[in-house]
Amino acid sequence: MLKGRHLIVPTDFTVDELNDLFRLADSIIANPSNYSDVCKGKLMASLFFEPSTRTKFSFDAAMYRLGGNVLGFSDPNTSSAAKGESLSDTTKTIANYVDLIVCRSPKEGAAKLMSKASSVPIINAGDGGHQHPTQTLTDLLTIRYYKKSLDNHVVGVCGDLKFGRTIHSLVKALSRYDNTRFIFISPEELKMPEYVTKELEGKIEFVQTDNLDKVMDKLDILYMSRVQRERFVSEEEYLRLKDYFILDQQKMQKAKSDLIVMHPLPRVNEISTEIDNDPRCVYFEQAKLGMYIRMALIMRLLGV
Ligand code: NCD
Repeated sequence: MLKGRHLIVPTDFTVDELNDLFRLADSIIANPSNYSDVCKGKLMASLFFEPSTRTKFSFDAAMYRLGGNVLGFSDPNTSSAAKGESLSDTTKTIANYVDLIVCRSPKEGAAKLMSKASSVPIINAGDGGHQHPTQTLTDLLTIRYYKKSLDNHVVGVCGDLKFGRTIHSLVKALSRYDNTRFIFISPEELKMPEYVTKELEGKIEFVQTDNLDKVMDKLDILYMSRVQRERFVSEEEYLRLKDYFILDQQKMQKAKSDLIVMHPLPRVNEISTEIDNDPRCVYFEQAKLGMYIRMALIMRLLGV
């Protein structure tokens, strides 16, 4: 039962609980009109202390499509946070008015802290460079949709593995499925943090490389990511690394015919627009699936 629970990291939910969410999302996709007023009278707070396009729009759209309502902010300067109110006090207050809270913060651990203060479910919509569990739900639904199963994939994870929270969450989640093998592709400076690789050691096969070209033909899934400019201390270092990988037609020619290319978006330069129409590139479809899995998540957390 997910009713009343928080979602801070993807493994807060068991594999069975996730399967239930995916089945509900399937059913919403098949018959959206059956769900158009299941959240009538419910309110969701959407608190974004960091920029967002897909996560905020897909959550808000999800709640409205379920017949509920949304209130919140995407500019924290309009809330009392700007007067120095603690996140904990802000959470306690807002929890009095709504049925669940979606929050994105630049600070690692913010969602966890909020969950301790809140009387309603907290959904982590990204906490700094740490985790982004609802992007992972989106990613898993996408893999399941295109590959039919979450088991037995060689998954290339490419780009900013150091700061990419979507990546940290995805690796954590995919590690629970049978025979997942990872190829981590990044420059040395943006390697996967040790706290992530430590959890894999001895359990999950993974290799690390800085050469995307060389591994293209081995991959079933390629998860691309943006170099996270806002998390760099030095702008110079960012400028040096930002175009390290560019996925283009030439690289795609080497890939399997049933590869899928995913990206949480926004993309900057790491995927050339020339391959957007390649049927293997599913990142915009992935963004759409994100709304359906969020509809399923809201329903289960509210128990409607
Ligand atoms: C990601 C994020 O915010 O972490 N975007 C998203 O939610 N789809 C990825 C990113 O910003 O690079």
